[in-house]
Amino acid sequence: MKQRFNRVKKVNGELSLPGDKSISHRALIFSAMASGISSIENLSDGLDVNATLNCLKQLGTDISSSKNMTLVQGCGFNGFKKPDLSLNCHNSGTTARLLSGLLIAQKFNSILTGDDSLSKRPMRRIIEPLEIMGGKIQGSNNILPLVIHPSDDLKAIDYYLEIPSAQVKSAILIAGLHLDDETVVAEKLITRDHTERMLGLNMQTAENKVISKSSIKNYPQPNNYFVPGDISSASFLIVAALLTKGSELIIKNVSLNPTRTGIIQLLKKMGAKIHTISKKESCNESYGDLMVSSSQLKNVFIGEDIIPSIIDEIPILAIAGVFAEGRFEIRNCNELRIKESDRIKSICNNLNLAGLSVEEFEDGFSFEGKLKHKEIIYESYDDHRIAMAFTILSILNKKGGVVNNFECVNISNPGFLKQLDSVCEQV
Ligand code: S3P
Repeated sequence: MKQRFNRVKKVNGELSLPGDKSISHRALIFSAMASGISSIENLSDGLDVNATLNCLKQLGTDISSSKNMTLVQGCGFNGFKKPDLSLNCHNSGTTARLLSGLLIAQKFNSILTGDDSLSKRPMRRIIEPLEIMGGKIQGSNNILPLVIHPSDDLKAIDYYLEIPSAQVKSAILIAGLHLDDETVVAEKLITRDHTERMLGLNMQTAENKVISKSSIKNYPQPNNYFVPGDISSASFLIVAALLTKGSELIIKNVSLNPTRTGIIQLLKKMGAKIHTISKKESCNESYGDLMVSSSQLKNVFIGEDIIPSIIDEIPILAIAGVFAEGRFEIRNCNELRIKESDRIKSICNNLNLAGLSVEEFEDGFSFEGKLKHKEIIYESYDDHRIAMAFTILSILNKKGGVVNNFECVNISNPGFLKQLDSVCEQV
């Protein structure tokens, strides 16, 4: 589906967003593992989280939803049942990777499948550590489908993550929840720590590494979760408000987990007026209200350390860079090549269409120049974050724009258009 956008004059008002995608996946998985009833308020309504929900139902979890509340009757330790069919993770890497950690500890075979995009994404990164733990996983060429066999001799490991990845870290820590001994994961750069916070895991920093540990003592208990609004979804609206004159936008109850707020830090460094006007906490996750006002931005140096905490926000950060003074450059983000699309290519191709002078590197990209003043037709590459980023570029361009295959926004945020409409004032 092609979606056309007109230029927007201002972004004003107040809104709350559906729950953070990463926290939602984990709230469902930990509730399903616990023995008893858990409640989850403000679960993400995106297709990715729905993929996790359906896989957990196939494994015997009873899940019901009404209004903004989801109730989960957990299966408890050893309570999951062998699924009749393969578990379809659709487009969701988080579903495939986190569930692998859960499934290697079960007493039955299971098969994980996915859509075309997910079936091209690398799974060696989870197969290797889970096999070192004694897990038995079959997957030709280290991609989906993966067949996960039961293992009699799972053991705790001490693992160093070469590639920063919260999905891989979480898969290992979730497998570790089934073992008496402590499983230890160390990483050089901290990646999102929702798994650790939500399970109350021990985390330390030593020798320039962040170390997280899990064992059976941390096995999840039933809980009442509140999922704060998704900061990755919020970042599209934040950039729209920053770059339109006379805008003032309040986003309520948005996740402010410090491993996710890199986008706010970086935008502030670029000159953005973003203020936290209240801060609360639920299940060890902080959240609060943000006030965003129109700002004049300038491009700044983006260091390697901040990359894991902005990994999902780089497409919209690039759009902010288009309107900021000076040349935009980002490096050290090779991981973007293996997301829902090759995001380095997707961003560069679309920015070329927009008339910018773009340079693509193996590990990033840079650009400078001015936008063409004509309606541009962007490709989403069936990647939700690319579709939303180029929607924002379209509403900021005098002549508007079009996004092809726009429906992929449903992966993380089906309400994106409604949210945008509720705060945008047309020219
Ligand atoms: C996620 C981790 C990130 C992120 C993804 C969600 C998670 O992936 O890109 O959207 O919930 O753990 P990696 O950990 O593989 O970088």
